[in-house]
Amino acid sequence: MTQLEQITQYMQTALASDNSGHSADHIDRVVALANKILINEPMADPFIVRAAALLHDVYDDKLFNNASDVQLAKSHLKTFLSNISVSQDDISRIFYIIDNMSWSKGIGGQAQHLDINGQIVQDADRLEAVGAIAITRAITYGAVKNRILYDPAIPPRIAQNKAEYRNDDSTTINHFYEKLLLIKDRLNTETAKKIATSRHQFMLDFLAQFKAEWDLTK
Ligand code: ADP
Ligand code: NI
Repeated sequence: MTQLEQITQYMQTALASDNSGHSADHIDRVVALANKILINEPMADPFIVRAAALLHDVYDDKLFNNASDVQLAKSHLKTFLSNISVSQDDISRIFYIIDNMSWSKGIGGQAQHLDINGQIVQDADRLEAVGAIAITRAITYGAVKNRILYDPAIPPRIAQNKAEYRNDDSTTINHFYEKLLLIKDRLNTETAKKIATSRHQFMLDFLAQFKAEWDLTK
């Protein structure tokens, strides 16, 4: 088995029980999107991009109940990568991308610089939050977290820090205004910006239709 095949198996086991929209099918699409972007980015390192894309949610704090479980998952992953002979340098590059690519990390001007490899993985993951599947992921996430679907009396609020961003008082429809609709202007690569255009429009159409149906009784 190649290293990437072993990493794929590791990821599938780690995410097997996820029900919040970060399951293996999400990862498959992030890898596919990263591969599409890679075609136009000759300076990138395909191994680093694919490894980080495969592993980017394995120790995500949304999947764990507390910080010590996140640290445990992280050190488990580090041992695994060493055991399959990924170099220490590559391990550091993969972890740096995973630790600095997330949306929540970028809130309040906290974003660290990503090189082209990190920019590709970030774009691929962000594109998963734009479009038709993104709509279903947001609704699934909201349901799992017991969030309100929609309440026109609760206005969207752009978070200034991670705690505000994770606040459960907001609604799933607000999440579109608080994150999903902002993504098209926060992408790094031209390839990703092109892919985002029709996906973004689809979400606008969805929101217009949703509100028209909601207001039917008024
Ligand atoms: P990151 O993992 O990059 O910090 P998020 O925490 O926003 O990004 O999580 C990724 C995905 O989880 C989102 O794209 C969305 O599908 C879903 N999600 C996160 N927060 C919410 C929310 N408050 N309401 C609905 N969906 C959410
Ligand atoms: Ni992801």
